[in-house]
Amino acid sequence: MNYQNSLVVTLLIICVVPNRSVAESSVAQRGHPIKQESFGQTKDGKNVELYTITNSHGVEVRAINYGGIVVSLRVPDKNGKLDDVVLGFDKLDGYLDKSPYFGAIVGRYGNRIANGKFTLDGKEYSLAKNNGPNALHGGLKGFDKAIWAAEPFQNNQGKGVVFTYTSKDGEEGYPGNLKVKVTYTLTDKNELIFDYQATTDKATPVNLTEHSYFNLAGEGTGDVLKHELMLNADRFTPVDKTLIPTGELRAVKGTPFDFRTPIAVGARIDDNYEQLAFGGGYDHNFVINRKTGDLQLAARVYEPTSGRVMEVYTTEPGVQFYSGNFLDGTITGKQGHVYKRRYALCLETQHFPDSPNHPEFPSTILRPGQTLHSRTIYKFSAQK
Ligand code: GLA
Repeated sequence: MNYQNSLVVTLLIICVVPNRSVAESSVAQRGHPIKQESFGQTKDGKNVELYTITNSHGVEVRAINYGGIVVSLRVPDKNGKLDDVVLGFDKLDGYLDKSPYFGAIVGRYGNRIANGKFTLDGKEYSLAKNNGPNALHGGLKGFDKAIWAAEPFQNNQGKGVVFTYTSKDGEEGYPGNLKVKVTYTLTDKNELIFDYQATTDKATPVNLTEHSYFNLAGEGTGDVLKHELMLNADRFTPVDKTLIPTGELRAVKGTPFDFRTPIAVGARIDDNYEQLAFGGGYDHNFVINRKTGDLQLAARVYEPTSGRVMEVYTTEPGVQFYSGNFLDGTITGKQGHVYKRRYALCLETQHFPDSPNHPEFPSTILRPGQTLHSRTIYKFSAQK
């Protein structure tokens, strides 16, 4: 075969072999344990793929390329028994119909922007108001509802999937084509690492987070009021009744927001304190104590019956502690489990809510030529 013919044959092979088999075969050659299979189709006929990642201790993460959703996360209890510790659905339909961001990547701007408006470089931008008077979690079709490109990988650190998505200039009202890459890595130290990266061609606010709903006793088993929580935060950002920060950084000392030493989530949740009334419980951003922009322990959760522990490390300045107040029993999730009020908690690492309207908060503006880097780690263990 001459050079030209062999080139044609090579090109034909490349074109005919579907992407997935290329990924699977290269992954298999390296003894890669990531399994890829179909998780159904969106209403407009797009295929959704499920990736199953397992580490040497049997910890298993299942994630899909719709919203980058972590659909299950199985971690050992004090006796080594694995249970799924995140709320979600057995099938794609649940996520398409009415998921309150279960397990998803949230963007372009996680959390709220007051009145769905912000001004950047002298220009006013309007966003959909999808949460009372405010914009929440990226809009009507945020990153949680996008189909992401996905590429499994294995490296020295662990194994996982790289999710990429380009959010178009003007999408949901935000300026600039934003290229986003989120790498999920499961390590043999029972860590699930999220590495966020983003670039833009116009200045834009960006605030990316991961919205897993945790119940360390196992999803659907009950409320999280006995989970013991430590938050490494001397201050939090109080909100108005629509959950927009007032701008104050309030000391937690002497308030039901002091989690600096571990205490049960339910110990003070119904105290007579205006901020708890506004949130219907905890739904607040805590200012993580830090001296540098490096990884910092933000939160530690311990569930006494299972002994499971989750630590959250992040490079972000804040963490939204949400005690699942809006879960109200109208969602039936995995295995027919009905998710009632406070059946889970979220620890959304982030920049502060409504930062585009608060110049005194750490900036969320990404400009052309800059690259956003952010890392969050969920680390699991168990104690007897
Ligand atoms: C975040 C918000 C909550 C709620 C959930 C999703 O945690 O702060 O108010 O919107 O997401 O239901």
